[in-house]
Amino acid sequence: MAITITIANEKGGVGKTTTSVNLAAGLAIHLAEQPGINGRVLLVDMDPQGHALLATAYGQHDVAAHQSLAALLTETPPPSVQRMLKQAEYHPNLHVIPSNRSAMVEAARVLPTLMANETRLAHVLRTVQNQFAFIIIDTPPNTGDLLINALVAADHVLIPVEPSYLGVSGLRELQNTIEQVRIHFNPELQILGYLPTLCEEQRLEVREILEQLEKRYPRLMLNPIHKASDLAYAHSAHMDVFTYKPSRQRNAGQLASSSRATQEYAQLVEMVLQRTLR
Ligand SMILES: Nc1ncnc2c1ncn2[C@@H]1O[C@H](COP(=O)(O)OP(=O)(O)OP(=O)(O)O)[C@@H](O)[C@H]1O
Ligand SMILES: [Mg+2]
Repeated sequence: MAITITIANEKGGVGKTTTSVNLAAGLAIHLAEQPGINGRVLLVDMDPQGHALLATAYGQHDVAAHQSLAALLTETPPPSVQRMLKQAEYHPNLHVIPSNRSAMVEAARVLPTLMANETRLAHVLRTVQNQFAFIIIDTPPNTGDLLINALVAADHVLIPVEPSYLGVSGLRELQNTIEQVRIHFNPELQILGYLPTLCEEQRLEVREILEQLEKRYPRLMLNPIHKASDLAYAHSAHMDVFTYKPSRQRNAGQLASSSRATQEYAQLVEMVLQRTLR
């Protein structure tokens, strides 16, 4: 059974997609040596913008609507997810579900009028659960049925946080959404951690907010990801950072290269393996 991790924060531009892409790719590289399903990772892009697919499977971010994730969410009965799966560009054991931007926008609009509107993603993922070690779900920057579906389908939620006053102020709303999902659908949903992103520790405001967060969530704060141009450049090159700045010892399973961004995301991959495979 796959371990499903949803990357969520209703605030926009906080590193959800960057984290989804690099966590999924990092897990895929790490697990590549494991035979069969134990080494396979699935990335699901619930954001109509499709940025996670742009960075992992450039050719799959805009396919015909009926062959896309939107059809899985809106058609009754849904088509076969199995037949939709595609391989990512750089990692043979990383898979994606293709998307269609306008169909996803339309799906978000019609979902509230459909029966089982909150549980449709969970339902379709259940049919491929036993084929993957991990399923990573990226989410859009708003509260709506796409986010709710991603939380209902998850075992864990990972929350990227930009350490700024505005970045922290929206967290209570997200916790409220998570609590509602637990009560109504998914009592086992766990917060895997808060991941400070786009960090510039030389700024006083950032240091103060990191301290506040440590006090508020003592066991849940993860090591920060600093602002790093490699992450932005990798994204514009349609790559994860491990492919963009590869380690010389990649074949020995080592993810971290001389680029700080690879070291920090490699640490996140380690932490995720430790906390979820107990
Ligand atoms: N640690 C980082 N250092 C430098 N740039 C980063 C970092 N993390 C993300 N970025 C850049 O910041 C922008 C926003 O990041 P990203 O797309 O991951 O956020 P998001 O939360 O998914 O946004 P949205 O809410 O729009 O989906 C992107 O251009 C990305 O390349
Ligand atoms: Mg995004």
